[in-house]
Amino acid sequence: MNKKATISIDGKNYDFPVLEGTVGPDTIDITKLYALTNNFTIDPGFTSTASCESSITYIDGDKGECYYRGYPMDELAEKSTFLEVVHLLWNGSLPTKDEWFEYSEAIKNHTMVHEQMKSFFNGFRRGSHPMAILTSVVAAMSAFYPDSTDVNDLDQRKIAARRMIAKVPTLAAMAYKYSIGQPFIYPDNSLDYSENFLQMTFGVPAEKYKINKVLSRALDKIFILHADHEQNASTSTVRLAASSGVNPFASISSGFTSLWGPLHGGANEAALNMLREIGDVKNIPKFIEKAKDKNDPFKLMGFGHRVYKNYDPRAKVMQKTCHEVLSEIGKKDDKILQVALELEKIALKDDYFIEKKLYPNIDFYSGITLNAMGFPSTMFTPLFAVARTAGWIAHWKEMYLDPKNRIGRPRQLYIGEKPRKFLELKDRS
Ligand code: SDX
Repeated sequence: MNKKATISIDGKNYDFPVLEGTVGPDTIDITKLYALTNNFTIDPGFTSTASCESSITYIDGDKGECYYRGYPMDELAEKSTFLEVVHLLWNGSLPTKDEWFEYSEAIKNHTMVHEQMKSFFNGFRRGSHPMAILTSVVAAMSAFYPDSTDVNDLDQRKIAARRMIAKVPTLAAMAYKYSIGQPFIYPDNSLDYSENFLQMTFGVPAEKYKINKVLSRALDKIFILHADHEQNASTSTVRLAASSGVNPFASISSGFTSLWGPLHGGANEAALNMLREIGDVKNIPKFIEKAKDKNDPFKLMGFGHRVYKNYDPRAKVMQKTCHEVLSEIGKKDDKILQVALELEKIALKDDYFIEKKLYPNIDFYSGITLNAMGFPSTMFTPLFAVARTAGWIAHWKEMYLDPKNRIGRPRQLYIGEKPRKFLELKDRS
């Protein structure tokens, strides 16, 4: 039976089809609303608005569950690898043995970047934030790889996607090396994806880099947790940018820009800075009161989520990974972790957080973990971007395959001046 929704305007009823998904809320298809009623809808922040149909990720915010192509994300984090998850998000299935061999070898063949990109980095001030460098050099990839910029060519789309998965870690490591004045380290294709990233980031030409398997496995899990998250701000930015038909590198670079914001992918850096500012468990009540004070712009960074009104499942895996990493490096009594654990405990018992359903999100423990692994806080968002490139390219591909895809062009509720006559300067008072 086809469900419908009826909207009544000035006593006249208009029916609109209700679309049902596999799981989750139904959606009212208002494509024809303006043509039929001369009305727009308005939904700042898109709290009740679906922008597209998608088969990639499903989030159950009330239950605190997240699925990549139907697989529980936390199960993938424990049992799969990031590169397998990239394949899953892009193709819709985990790779078979034959698929894995071709795909993993192909990614390895793209890990190096065009040698001339090195001089591109030299244009930046040494201490530049790695995200300032990355947002630029990823967009610049269209200048270095013009043979994979035609979005209407399926082969070029595939090569562009593989180039971004393979090269973004290399560029992120280069951005870090450049910011600390150390030489770039080339990829080592004898290593797996996360091991390679660690050696490009922390290796030096003066000595052989020793891989710590506990840390590389933890990083791989962190990449899986950050790989995709439905229509979040940066993914929606990529979809909107790509809807104009611009080349893939420019589209994905728009995701980097949006992700950098402290309310989104920059929250991990902001959360660690906040925990450092709190400094000691005795200071927690003061900061909880600040977070609750309507007149104080302070928010508990790493808390709250637009979709999760329960514990972010990624935060649970992140907390466990945090303990694994801190134990491995002999810092299991890390003071900042104690502050985080106590802050979570107090906040989750406080009526304000309970009423507003504010729980720790993925960013609450990621900063502590990455800091313990040796990453400076300026590298937290670049790491998030390395992982989220998987989701961005998967949504970018899905958008192009969607027959309903058209350029995104929202309307508005105009509240400005009524049309008025121009007055010459001499006639103005
Ligand atoms: C990510 O969308 C995604 O999926 C994002 C992400 C992904 O994987 O892509 O999950 C990654 O961005 C995680 C979120 C990281 N950001 C933070 O941790 C920053 C702190 N959190 C908040 O800024 C906020 O919770 C957001 C931005 C995450 C969500 O914002 P919403 O959905 O617009 O909610 P809101 O700001 O309207 O808050 C609702 C109420 C408000 O109070 P009232 O005006 O109703 O009285 O809750 C309050 C807010 O003031 N509130 C908080 C709070 N978060 C919301 N109060 C104190 N501390 C907080 N952290």
